[in-house]
Amino acid sequence: MSRSGFAVAIAHSNIALSKYWGKRAGEGNVPAVPSLSVTLAGLSTTTSVTFDPRLTKDSLELNGIEAEGTPLARAITLVDRVRAENGSKTFARIVSKNDFPTASGLASSASGFAALALATVRASGLDWSAERVADLARRSSASAARSVFGGFVELDGDTARAIAPKNALGLRVLVCVTTEGEKTVSSTDGMKRTMDTSPYYGAWLENAPRIHASLRDALLANDFPKVGELAEASALAMHASAMAAGVVYVSGVTLAALSEVRAIRKDGIAAYATIDAGPHLKCLVEEANAARVKERLARVPGVLRVIEASPGDGARVIEGGAA
Ligand code: PMV
Repeated sequence: MSRSGFAVAIAHSNIALSKYWGKRAGEGNVPAVPSLSVTLAGLSTTTSVTFDPRLTKDSLELNGIEAEGTPLARAITLVDRVRAENGSKTFARIVSKNDFPTASGLASSASGFAALALATVRASGLDWSAERVADLARRSSASAARSVFGGFVELDGDTARAIAPKNALGLRVLVCVTTEGEKTVSSTDGMKRTMDTSPYYGAWLENAPRIHASLRDALLANDFPKVGELAEASALAMHASAMAAGVVYVSGVTLAALSEVRAIRKDGIAAYATIDAGPHLKCLVEEANAARVKERLARVPGVLRVIEASPGDGARVIEGGAA
């Protein structure tokens, strides 16, 4: 049963293989460099949006708690963009839930804003293309544009698009959880500090598009070791540019896990590391090697647990949303 003014959407987190870091000058939240990610099957956000003329304000429940301040304001900004499109003044009740602990630092704005964008559009009775939903999500969180699509996804300038299906490469991602704490510097602040003060930001801007283009070619050629090498190079270059601005996301445990990934590689198993704006390390392996690599990473002192994730689907409506 669907009723108008109501939709529920689910979206998953994604992990960038070639990273973006930094924004283009001007409005619109456009990344400074292209990126390529894989959408994961786990780590999901489910969001319902109900437009109801009886509501007197917008509200947001996040994991069972009524949200205020920045999280509420960011959600309202997205909903306002859709209301501006269809001339509506009706308030919305938003209820959002992650299937992973938010306080773990694994929480990503990507799944959240992708699910919110799709649910809002469909609850508004609009039948936008995935590209247009991604554009809306990107304005709130650039990485969220990629979670609108499944499998391997490119974000180039303001445009996100799927470029390879989820079964390409036979990839598995092993997320090494290194702390239950939240990250200390948000990606937005970290990028800003890097852009403003890193002596290596220029080098990053010059190199990242090259790494991205080679990684894209390697993916389309189904060359797992090459994709892995380039993904590790992308992450280390991104962190080098951030570190030179004093922005350090890695911890001792992240580095211990990184050396274990390299030791595993020395032992002849294709395993590669990537690290986002937080201390967790993500290891890229082929499906056949996932179990034994997982076992080795779980033994690294300080690694709390290892979550195995497979490439998954893009954002989709699971209830309501009749156009
Ligand atoms: O768009 P944000 O604010 O979620 O930042 C994403 C930054 C990285 O995860 C480090 C890189 C990326 O391309 O996802």
